[in-house]
Amino acid sequence: MENIIIEKSNHIGIITISRPQALNALNWQTLRELDAAVDAIENDKDIYCVIIGGAGDKAFVAGADISEMKDMDVFSGSDFGALGNWVFRKIELLDKPVIAAIGGYALGGGCELALSCDIRIASDNAKFGQPEVSLGITPGFGGTQRLARIVGTGKAKEMIYTGANIDAQEALRIGLVNKVVPKESLNDEAMKMAAKIAGNAPIAVKLCKAAINYGMQCDIDTALAYESSVFGQCFASQDQKDAMTAFVEKRKLEGFNN
Ligand code: CAA
Repeated sequence: MENIIIEKSNHIGIITISRPQALNALNWQTLRELDAAVDAIENDKDIYCVIIGGAGDKAFVAGADISEMKDMDVFSGSDFGALGNWVFRKIELLDKPVIAAIGGYALGGGCELALSCDIRIASDNAKFGQPEVSLGITPGFGGTQRLARIVGTGKAKEMIYTGANIDAQEALRIGLVNKVVPKESLNDEAMKMAAKIAGNAPIAVKLCKAAINYGMQCDIDTALAYESSVFGQCFASQDQKDAMTAFVEKRKLEGFNN
């Protein structure tokens, strides 16, 4: 892969979008590579948690690639939007938690990529925005849908209609990010949170993600029935037996084996 780096450390998979010459903007090639990277991470059962970041400290991702979009027509534009939505939905549904480590600009498709992750940690120099209307287009990789679901329709409409950027503190205030950290410690903070997640029972964590995602798109009774079902499934896992036995026997569990 040319524009995506995949690394692995202690059950944590790290995907870095690396096109620093274009502030990590997402072109066709980068989206296709990201798709393949997500597949590789999905298939690696030894990875329990994922971090997605951008190379350099100037940008997480400065959006979809404008120089490629400039000459698109209705058909190629629709295909490009569909590819972005396909990859970001795959990230959202990945069977392990994904943390976005956002350093610098997260604009347009970059903000949308962060929105498709489970948790967003921003550096204090991060800037978020959906500037698409200033380019004659709508957000195309999920922004109109996920931003509204995460920060509410009022703030989402303000950001999308004005196209104005907000800084990391404002993003924290409106619930767009979970945490703001000094830019020097962004990677460490993301790794620390990923390690905490990866240290828990992977099957239980995976089922929590599935239950939250599924429950947010259906009525509460259906959602609670789904929760009861995943709760029950946990009792088929060795992790549940080991962790509860260790608790009752007042000893520390060495680790999870699934
Ligand atoms: N696409 C293509 N190239 C981009 C890019 C993008 N989204 N963002 C930055 N670049 C390129 C610049 O063209 C420039 O390349 P050259 O050195 O070859 O000229 C390089 O990255 C560095 O960028 P700047 O010189 O502009 O850096 P800056 O510090 O002056 O400004 C910035 C930084 C404010 C982020 C500015 O680059 C910018 O406004 N970028 C565009 C942001 C944007 O509008 N994103 C939304 C795209 S639309 C979208 O994403 C649609 C969707 O929903 C799917």
